[in-house]
Amino acid sequence: MLKSVILIGGPQKGTRFRPLSFEVPKPLFPVAGVPMLQHHVEECAKVPNMKEILLIGFYQPNEELTRFMSSAQQEFKISIRYLQEYAALGTGGGIYHFRDQILSGGPEAFFIMNADVCSEFPLPEMLNFQKEHGESSSFVILGTTANRKQSMNYGCIVENQQTNEVLHYVEKPSTFVSDIINCGIYLFTPEIFQHIGAVFQQNQQDMLLDEQTNGNGWHRAEAIRLEQDIFTALAGQGKLYVYKTPAIWSQIKSAGSAIYASRLYLNQYHKTHPERLLGPNVSIGTGVTIGAGVRVRESIILHGATLQDHSCVLNCIVGWDSTIGKWARVEGTPSDPNPNDPYAKIDSETLFRDGELTPSITILGCNVTIPAEVIILNSIVLPYKDLNRSFKNQIIL
Ligand code: GDD
Ligand code: GTP
Repeated sequence: MLKSVILIGGPQKGTRFRPLSFEVPKPLFPVAGVPMLQHHVEECAKVPNMKEILLIGFYQPNEELTRFMSSAQQEFKISIRYLQEYAALGTGGGIYHFRDQILSGGPEAFFIMNADVCSEFPLPEMLNFQKEHGESSSFVILGTTANRKQSMNYGCIVENQQTNEVLHYVEKPSTFVSDIINCGIYLFTPEIFQHIGAVFQQNQQDMLLDEQTNGNGWHRAEAIRLEQDIFTALAGQGKLYVYKTPAIWSQIKSAGSAIYASRLYLNQYHKTHPERLLGPNVSIGTGVTIGAGVRVRESIILHGATLQDHSCVLNCIVGWDSTIGKWARVEGTPSDPNPNDPYAKIDSETLFRDGELTPSITILGCNVTIPAEVIILNSIVLPYKDLNRSFKNQIIL
């Protein structure tokens, strides 16, 4: 059985995201149309044997988070729980504090992921890689390549090129170490807690004195960073490996990086979620209102038009200030040149052939109203028409 933990941080973090993080906790900021965390949850839920997802952070429980968790649980059919740290315990301290929760039910391994990353989340690949590398008790870091200069803003990894073992790990070095960087996504076995536990014991001893003077020692002993305190020590011990991915990956620290991450995910949607995309080949005028779940492709929507929730617009021109009702489907037949002929030009067919309207794109003039739940197919609707039913192959005067 497997589990996943997502480190979501807390309100003191995400400062580079202001003022947007005042409105919504940064991990819930929408990237490519869904909360940042949903991309993680969705990929975790796809992994066979994934039992549960734990979010660990130091946000007060809040309505947005609760709402996200309950809707994601329903949509992805997986248990999601929030565990709140009493203070920022660092990337290793939080998971150590909640180790009993993570280990309950006996997972043989678990993923840990930073919330503020955009990735293809190659989780099955990491599991395979772990099996292939030494004993299946090894720990795996997801790595990617950065350029020399930018690598120093990340955790840097020197590997053994034959075995992919991590030989050196330096968090945000001040001089160049390696162009392989830490993506903030890990696969651990329960044994990791022995290593974190050892650091905790050491911290406790170091701070015994401190505690006697200001009573602060326990909290400080529990604050542990996976990167500096654990990975640096594990490097070169035959336990830590790097799985390098060529797939998309980016950090999401600032509002600007959210736009870049959106683009990376939107490009993925061609493969993974074509239904979430507007387009291809959609142009939208100013002041257009588009409801939830609307599908548009190969169309031009002119200014002031409204496409109400779940309507579908394919191969159409929607005129100025027209309205398409909920769940209505307005569709035409494309008149593209033959794609199999490199020199083909577009056919300018006559409107009628043999007394019938030739199938073409659907055109709505300005101020047309299409009611909810009707189908308009291969039709031309003149301006200011209020339709009251479905039509097919007609000119509606
Ligand atoms: N629960 C909890 N508690 N989460 C935390 C805490 C904490 O005290 N501190 C940070 N986090 C979460 C953040 O919300 C974020 O998702 C993740 O842990 C890492 O945040 P930082 O500690 O700010 O590190 P970073 O993002 O600058 O760098 C990390 O990620 C890079 C990849 O994006 C490091 O792991 C780098 O090595 C890595 O390259
Ligand atoms: P290249 O592959 O680089 O040639 O570009 P592309 O055709 O993939 O276009 P782009 O990268 O701009 O967009 C990728 C897909 O996302 C296309 O299907 C677009 O229609 C779609 N898309 C672009 N912007 C948006 C948007 O704001 N919302 C939605 N839902 N989809 C978008």
